[in-house]
Amino acid sequence: MKILVLGSRGQVGSEVLAPLSCLGEVVTADVAEVDLGNLDALRAFVRAAAPNLIVNAAAYNEVDRAEQDEAGAFGVNARAVGLLGEEMKRTRGALLHYSTDFVFDGTTTRPYVETDAPNPLGRYGASKLAGEQALAELDAPAIVLRTAWVWSLRRKSFVSAMLKLARERETLKIVDDQVGCPTSARDLAEISALIAYGARHDVHAAFSEARGVYHAAGAGACSRFELARATIELDPRRAEHVVKSLEPVPTSAYPLPAKRPAHAPLDCGKLRARFGLALPDWRGSLARALEG
Ligand SMILES: NC(=O)c1ccc[n+]([C@@H]2O[C@H](COP(=O)([O-])OP(=O)(O)OC[C@H]3O[C@@H](n4cnc5c(N)ncnc54)[C@H](OP(=O)(O)O)[C@@H]3O)[C@@H](O)[C@H]2O)c1
Repeated sequence: MKILVLGSRGQVGSEVLAPLSCLGEVVTADVAEVDLGNLDALRAFVRAAAPNLIVNAAAYNEVDRAEQDEAGAFGVNARAVGLLGEEMKRTRGALLHYSTDFVFDGTTTRPYVETDAPNPLGRYGASKLAGEQALAELDAPAIVLRTAWVWSLRRKSFVSAMLKLARERETLKIVDDQVGCPTSARDLAEISALIAYGARHDVHAAFSEARGVYHAAGAGACSRFELARATIELDPRRAEHVVKSLEPVPTSAYPLPAKRPAHAPLDCGKLRARFGLALPDWRGSLARALEG
């Protein structure tokens, strides 16, 4: 199997390279090699690479900037995704793509399932939803993993930011009225490779049959405040910390251009039922990563 990984320097893209390289030849690209905002360049790149499977971990992820740059966000998160779906349909390949809990408005009282109506609060969420819809309209051989709160210790993330701030500031004020599912980039990468492995005999047929959206996030849910507190408590190098107190604050304490969903845990039962796969509990993954 020849696999093209887009966004190969990002949190998920960089983690997926090792497990995928056990499955076949892996070709990598990030924005320096091909800009997903340039559809002609993207089409030419994909055709030259001629993969059986594309893992698209590239995204326009700047949630606040997207409010001012709708064209940029939709170009990368929707139009490019449609093109990847078209190319994989045309060549009888397959696409593994990622979406976000930000397609929801966060007004649920229970974890979201895939059939719940999306209602994005901002342009980033709207652009990611448009990417999902483009694949659905094409009937593309595409599996979309909707994930949330992705963190990695090796890249800039909420968790790595908390570890840094704990070494710099005595007081940290953290939002406690946003609830979601922290997801280890490595766990998501491993689930991605396992899905590809399960499809290895005929990736086009397997992805065509299983096509659609699956929630894929760390098990359990917590607030940003709880995630920050767990990160600090579980850090084995706590002796380096200068932080003395963590203060819960409302989202309104940090006004930002894009609204975030307040309560958007994801129910990952469909992923388990279809593939027999589940991401581990977020706290256990965090503890393992911090232990190194
Ligand atoms: N991070 C989260 O909390 C989160 C939550 C829910 C869903 N997701 C989804 O999960 C997937 C993986 O996210 P991630 O956290 O791994 O993202 P990430 O770390 O930001 O990686 C995305 C990669 O895509 C690259 N990229 C950006 N614009 C591009 C363009 N125009 N052309 C080509 N490459 C481009 C980025 O390069 P630069 O770094 O140079 O821009 C980066 O290497 C994405 O689909 C994302 O929407 C993420």
